[in-house]
Amino acid sequence: MAGGFGPTGGGGTEFEAKITPIVIISCIMAATGGLMFGYDVGVSGGVTSMPAFLKKFFPVVYEKTQEDKDSNYCKYDNQNLQLFTSSLYLAGLTATFFASYTTRKLGRRLTMLIAGVFFIIGTAFNAAAQDLAMLIVGRIMLGCGVGFANQAVPVFLSEIAPTRIRGGLNILFQLNVTIGILFANLVNYGTAKIKGGWGWRVSLGLAGIPAGLLTLGALFVVDTPNSLIERGHLDEGKAVLKRIRGTDNVEPEYLELVEASRVAKEVKHPFRNLLKRRNRPQLIIAVALQIFQQFTGINAIMFYAPVLFNTLGFGGDASLYSAVITGAVNVLSTIVSIYSVDKVGRRMLLLEAGVQMFLSQVVIAIILGIKVKDHSDNLEKGFAVFVVVLVCTFVSSFAWSWGPLGWLIPSETFPLETRSAGQSVTVCVNLLFTFVIAQAFLSMLCHFKFGIFLFFSGWVFIMSVFVLFLLPETKNIPIEEMTERVWKRHWLWKRFMDDDYDNVGAVTNGEKKNGVNNGFDPSSQL
Ligand code: BGC
Repeated sequence: MAGGFGPTGGGGTEFEAKITPIVIISCIMAATGGLMFGYDVGVSGGVTSMPAFLKKFFPVVYEKTQEDKDSNYCKYDNQNLQLFTSSLYLAGLTATFFASYTTRKLGRRLTMLIAGVFFIIGTAFNAAAQDLAMLIVGRIMLGCGVGFANQAVPVFLSEIAPTRIRGGLNILFQLNVTIGILFANLVNYGTAKIKGGWGWRVSLGLAGIPAGLLTLGALFVVDTPNSLIERGHLDEGKAVLKRIRGTDNVEPEYLELVEASRVAKEVKHPFRNLLKRRNRPQLIIAVALQIFQQFTGINAIMFYAPVLFNTLGFGGDASLYSAVITGAVNVLSTIVSIYSVDKVGRRMLLLEAGVQMFLSQVVIAIILGIKVKDHSDNLEKGFAVFVVVLVCTFVSSFAWSWGPLGWLIPSETFPLETRSAGQSVTVCVNLLFTFVIAQAFLSMLCHFKFGIFLFFSGWVFIMSVFVLFLLPETKNIPIEEMTERVWKRHWLWKRFMDDDYDNVGAVTNGEKKNGVNNGFDPSSQL
């Protein structure tokens, strides 16, 4: 299999493309959509461990944390409190279906702008909240923003990027997610110290910064040629293609986009089309990746790190501090992924991380099982530091694998005709399972105790086996050539790629169209 930055493997074409400033700047601007998502993920954990916030909105929980009569693992177990965190995800997963429509009909750029506006409104509601209702309305608005942004941004990045660095540029989205989480952790660390009891307002209000950045970014970027051509703006699409590729020689890529958009236009019902047999492999992969990404258990750490560390007996300040450390590890390890994803490939990163995540979770479970009892805060300093190190080991491997690739792979594997609908299912399933974890984690912690880490490690094992056998490698393959060069050559998925009739096992010769060498080598896909 071809590696690094050389021509793509398998005898296909490599379109001429320079790495132009306009592509880099557009990607940086669009990726700020991730900043907002990350900030929302990160901010709730810190805010919900601030006494003034709890006292105002969740007095019952506040009482519990004061009395200290509940088990260590159970003091934050409250459905309303979990609803505060998770309402955002419910709103987001609903919004993404509207976003699918706007991404297709209005373009990637306008959809990002809509997201920015939702973010600004949500932030205003949250920072000014007088009661629980205002707080939840704000979270719902932010959720709508997440639904629109996570729909448009990954697709925008995958479409605008030159093939050979598509993975790296797409991961700018996830890099921003992690920066957003870290920024939120740092802000919480500072605002928790504000004496007057209004620190949480600053935490929620500072979301205005990423919201503003995305809105401005969306005003300045150009839309992708794929989207322009899909919407019938052929000349503009071609002009943009020349600008972003830094060459006048764009005819081959242009023709491929026109062909993809012709096929896309024939599709009248994108969601129904998604269910067709030949779209099944991408759909299964996209859905499975989202479920798996959330069942790594990452958000148990991200949302509730301060709460979790508190539970482990770290004390208020130390726990936020630990959350900041995991946040920093998350950012740095994502950069590793940007560098390696187009060189070593997607599969390698996921498989290596599987081993690392599995081991760290099992060891965490063992230590907590032995050391943390229900009513004592006696995790000795040495062990506490060791737990933080293990959590960092886990977070780092997530950050160069499931974190970014959960967003990258679905955005690059669907053909143009189902890309918007496919991405919307991706976002929906992701947010649904984020919601499930957010809503259930504190109760699960209360019931499973340390066993929660064993639960997640079991899932990590399952997902690694899935990757090993069922996930094809997509590095260095042009985005509109996936069907011919990835799906039609996979030992299992090729059975679904029947162009002419929907017959189980009947495989037609896909190589006719592109003239690519379709010799199948199972080892190259495994
Ligand atoms: C996931 C989020 C998670 C974040 C952590 C993202 O890829 O979708 O749910 O909180 O990574 O960095």
